[in-house]
Amino acid sequence: MAKVLVTGGLGYIGSHTVVTLLQQNFEVVIVDDLSNSQASVLDRVEQISGQRPPFYQLNLCDESAVEQMFDKEPGIDSIIHFAASKAVGESVAKPLLYYKNNLLSLIHLLEQMNQRGITDFVFSSSCTVYGQPDKLPVTEQSPMKPAESPYGNTKQVGEQILQDACRAYPSLQVIALRYFNPVGAHESALIGELPTGVPNNLVPFITQTAAGLRPQLKVFGQDYDTPDGTAVRDYIHVVDLAEAHEIALRRLMNDKQKENFEFFNIGTGEGHSVLEVVKTFEKVNDLSLNYELADRRPGDVEQVYADTHYANTELGWKATRNLEEMLTSAWKWQKRISQ
Ligand code: UD1
Repeated sequence: MAKVLVTGGLGYIGSHTVVTLLQQNFEVVIVDDLSNSQASVLDRVEQISGQRPPFYQLNLCDESAVEQMFDKEPGIDSIIHFAASKAVGESVAKPLLYYKNNLLSLIHLLEQMNQRGITDFVFSSSCTVYGQPDKLPVTEQSPMKPAESPYGNTKQVGEQILQDACRAYPSLQVIALRYFNPVGAHESALIGELPTGVPNNLVPFITQTAAGLRPQLKVFGQDYDTPDGTAVRDYIHVVDLAEAHEIALRRLMNDKQKENFEFFNIGTGEGHSVLEVVKTFEKVNDLSLNYELADRRPGDVEQVYADTHYANTELGWKATRNLEEMLTSAWKWQKRISQ
């Protein structure tokens, strides 16, 4: 049984991935600093999977804590690295915090891998590395644009660090998954997205508005060059995304990589506008949402959606859950937590 370290394993994508891995009989160790997650998520993971993986509460910037954790958990074969700060606006206000948190943690993990002979690494990257692409859909070959925010830059630089490390240490094997917009929740509604404070992201804002926790959703931008004037994204169900990690891990374990640094687009390949998301949410959940059209949000791109051909054929992964399922599960989750 392979032993996998999941950093950020109590966070939104991390917790869904932990559940998927446990259900596929991987042995899991979780590290999380609880900066944007809650210890109770571990109870929910146990409720779903019947297993309670060891959990270390630590920040990966703390080098000696990281070392001690690896000492206590011998035999780790691979790492899935989610732990990172991800609020775009906050990264503009606190760039040093973002560079430290997102890059120092990555370097500490790579150093430990070198020292301990751990070879397999899956990295959380983002479609933000493409900026506003010249051509849609974006393929993995689309050029990276200068990052719009320090957060986006940490993903670009993170990939660059991994690429350089793979060149210098040929035994290292890395897959970067470039996520589009993860939404939705586990079908049990026991885990889901738990934003602290006012949500920045669209779907948590929609569900909190529907639950009466926010008075009104603002649809940012109505004059984009899109069919209905609102911005277009590629929304992907978080469980499909979790499954992409399991498949990437198996690819590393089975030495199927073509190069020792690979990267894949993880989306559905379909673009949906903000208004389409709002209207689908209303329809599938049979409710009406209080929203108004508002000005554009600074830093937003107009449209981005994935060409998933390479992930489908080479990685052997394909999203199977549609927007309706994403928005039904998101609402089921919101209703449970706001009860
Ligand atoms: C952003 C980042 C992405 C990051 C993700 C995680 C960019 C280009 N993308 O995604 O890299 O991984 O956050 O936090 O920086 N919207 C509204 N009203 C709201 C909230 C959002 O209309 O209250 C709109 C946005 O303007 C956007 C769409 O909904 O058009 C999706 O927004 P959001 O969920 O925040 O994700 P991104 O900005 O695409």
